[in-house]
Amino acid sequence: MQNLMSSQRGLGLSNPRQRAWIEVKAAAIEANTRILKQVIRADCLFMAVVKADGYGHGAVTVAKAALKGGADYLGVATLQEGIELRRSGIECPILVLGNLTNKEDLVTCHTAELMPTISSLREALVCQKIAEDLGGEFCVHIKVDTGMTRLGFDFKDVCEAIEKIEQLPSLIVKGLYSHLALADVESANVTNKQQQRFQELLDILGHKKKKICCHLANSAATLRGNSLHYQMVRVGIAMYGYSPIQSLDEGLDLQPALALRARVTLVRNVPQGVGVSYGHRFITQRPSRLAVVAIGYADGVSRRLSGRISVLINNEFAPQVGAITMDQLLIDVTDHSSIEVGSVVTLLGCEGEKCISPHEWSEAIGTIPWEVLCGFKHRLPRIVI
Ligand SMILES: Cc1ncc(COP(=O)(O)O)c(C=O)c1O
Repeated sequence: MQNLMSSQRGLGLSNPRQRAWIEVKAAAIEANTRILKQVIRADCLFMAVVKADGYGHGAVTVAKAALKGGADYLGVATLQEGIELRRSGIECPILVLGNLTNKEDLVTCHTAELMPTISSLREALVCQKIAEDLGGEFCVHIKVDTGMTRLGFDFKDVCEAIEKIEQLPSLIVKGLYSHLALADVESANVTNKQQQRFQELLDILGHKKKKICCHLANSAATLRGNSLHYQMVRVGIAMYGYSPIQSLDEGLDLQPALALRARVTLVRNVPQGVGVSYGHRFITQRPSRLAVVAIGYADGVSRRLSGRISVLINNEFAPQVGAITMDQLLIDVTDHSSIEVGSVVTLLGCEGEKCISPHEWSEAIGTIPWEVLCGFKHRLPRIVI
């Protein structure tokens, strides 16, 4: 083992740009945060949502850049995500947006000074007991379901629940929030209904809510207008540089923070009529030059994208052809002159003035940009530039 460890130093594993990689522009996250902060009131807080490893960009990198850009709060989905941020030295308020159900997790949450989301009285009682046992207080946010039908107290029951939670002496309700189900579609009917329910609840709570940070808006709702902003907005996708609805970010100048790149490892000339890759789903229609690119579905480039995307190489678009395989894919470079082994291909993000957005991938295969971004595997090194 000792020999292997010492010999690894000479194995050339140190160049992360050898095969396939993700570049993350921290300055873009910072700039996007500043731009988005201008959309909200000066007294409205900004939560940077950095769950799922910062939407695949690297949570610590994103969190630090967002805080530099003026974010006040961070949002994570899991306890481990929150702990990773604390271990990196981040001290700002962090809300765990997912549900923590067992006592051990809630103890760790308390110790790490993370705030859990409370969706039931059972969870509130566990938190109260932990605070009593360990001493001190437990700061939490209460979630109310106004129409997403996922986490949260039912909006009809939440007032009664809040009254009971207020009797728990060690529980400090720092926030009250809900999540919108359809903020990113053109029609605002469901969003209006959810907002109406949220507002009715705040009206009933009256003066009590003054001490509480109330929040409802994701990126789409943040861009829709400040009637949805309340005391804090929770922004994910827009901070990474993508608009949840194309019409909403006009003039905002958000920049994509991520680029997915890989190298050509072989260039080959093939005659007309040759089947390419597994299943021969692509047959060359002319004598062709094909380049093998060292990235595949095991890196997060979905096999369902086979034959449906283009890449950028030397500032020109080239079509991807044949089935995307686990570790490689092919591109048709017949019309490109100077492609060679080692040439860099951009699959997502910008090269010069030209860009490829995750929207293009998600539209090609019937998913959403969020899933594309979260799908990149750890085999791809993240390089912060
Ligand atoms: C509770 C909650 N708030 C905010 C967000 C951020 O959403 P978006 O990326 O659309 O801004 C998410 C993301 O899924 C979420 O789950």
